[in-house]
Amino acid sequence: MLKSVMAPKIAKPMQLPHEVEMPEGVPAHDPPARELDVTRARRETPGVEHVAHFNNAGAALMPEPVVEAVISHLRLESEIGGYEAATRAEAAVDGVYAAAGRLLNADTTEIAIVDNATRAWTAAFYSLPLGEGDRILTGASEYVSNYLGFLQVTKRTGAVVEAVPSDPSGQISVDALADMIDDRTKLIAITHVPTNGGLVNPAAAIGRVAGQAGVPYLLDACQSVGQMPIDVKAIGCDMLSATGRKYLRGPRGTGLLYVRRGLAEKLEPAVIDLGSADWVEKDRYEIRPGAKRFELWESYMAGKSGLRVAMDYARSWGLDVSYARIQKLADQIRAGLRDIPGATVHDLGVEQCGIVSFALDGHDPADVTKALSEQAINTSVSTANMTRLDMDSRGLDSLIRASVHYYNSDDEIQRLLQAVNDL
Ligand SMILES: Cc1ncc(COP(=O)(O)O)c(C=O)c1O
Repeated sequence: MLKSVMAPKIAKPMQLPHEVEMPEGVPAHDPPARELDVTRARRETPGVEHVAHFNNAGAALMPEPVVEAVISHLRLESEIGGYEAATRAEAAVDGVYAAAGRLLNADTTEIAIVDNATRAWTAAFYSLPLGEGDRILTGASEYVSNYLGFLQVTKRTGAVVEAVPSDPSGQISVDALADMIDDRTKLIAITHVPTNGGLVNPAAAIGRVAGQAGVPYLLDACQSVGQMPIDVKAIGCDMLSATGRKYLRGPRGTGLLYVRRGLAEKLEPAVIDLGSADWVEKDRYEIRPGAKRFELWESYMAGKSGLRVAMDYARSWGLDVSYARIQKLADQIRAGLRDIPGATVHDLGVEQCGIVSFALDGHDPADVTKALSEQAINTSVSTANMTRLDMDSRGLDSLIRASVHYYNSDDEIQRLLQAVNDL
């Protein structure tokens, strides 16, 4: 026991598939290949031995290096104490900010690490000064928790929320958005990839409109970060929220918020503690600089360590390479479903990502998901209350959601399609 206290284990330097711009001390590898090494991806994903996992938009299967990072930090905490472990593993834990910066093309001071995407989104949203008559513009596929925030804040302040119409493809109409903006518009809040389907909203085109009008732009990138390349500068968003457990393949209970430098300093978080502010005199506090003002002091250190690895791991494949594979696999599923009598694909948009939504005539989506899970095939159900504006307007109650990741195999897709067909 004494021996393990003297020499506690900390995360081994991870072996990344292909490394670009590695953190200090880790040797550089070849640049990302143009074709993803699926065999390696599956070898590093223990879960593929047990399930055909098509619930990556719920929580993806973690790769081995992420699991290692989390467990080794928890072990260290159990051996030397939680605070002491944080000090000992400071580089591994604090490296999460730099990893997020590399992933999103942001500065470390523009990143807050929080416990999920909703914490990130609400931290930004509830800090915005909104008043009577101010307008919030959103899209038809906004996520339930964001919309609940709109409803609460508009009730409290007299601000209003309005949904920008979608274009014929189902994505947000950028022209309609531009037409709707006036000098009472105080926020554009859009979901990049909705919870209930393959739609990818035109985030960068929205960013150009928001930038020209000088309206703050909050992007819910919960389902897009880790799935596709995301560059906050190229998109032009002012704030962005994301979660660890979905396409990033990080641990549950982790999330992040990006707030553009210069904007963070103007925002006072709705909730502060000793992590977000300093108590400098009896009657006075000072908010911390940068995005860290949106964090609270206590946090999930093992999760941060795992999230750091997950972000570097995601980048190491080349996000354009992994996204191309995700899109190819999702298209394969859509094409296969179209050949199954009674199956209808419901994905919207011009660009479609790894989330496939469909219905099966005469079958309750919950029953389909259950029947698939009995065959070790994981899918999920999207119910109307998750994206009410969109689902109500399409007259949909619920859909089956099969969300692919780059580590899914052709065999797994055939198993899924066969199982749906057999139903
Ligand atoms: C589009 C979208 N935004 C936000 C969230 C919330 O993420 P979290 O559960 O990490 O708070 C989800 C979760 O499914 C989502 O699909």
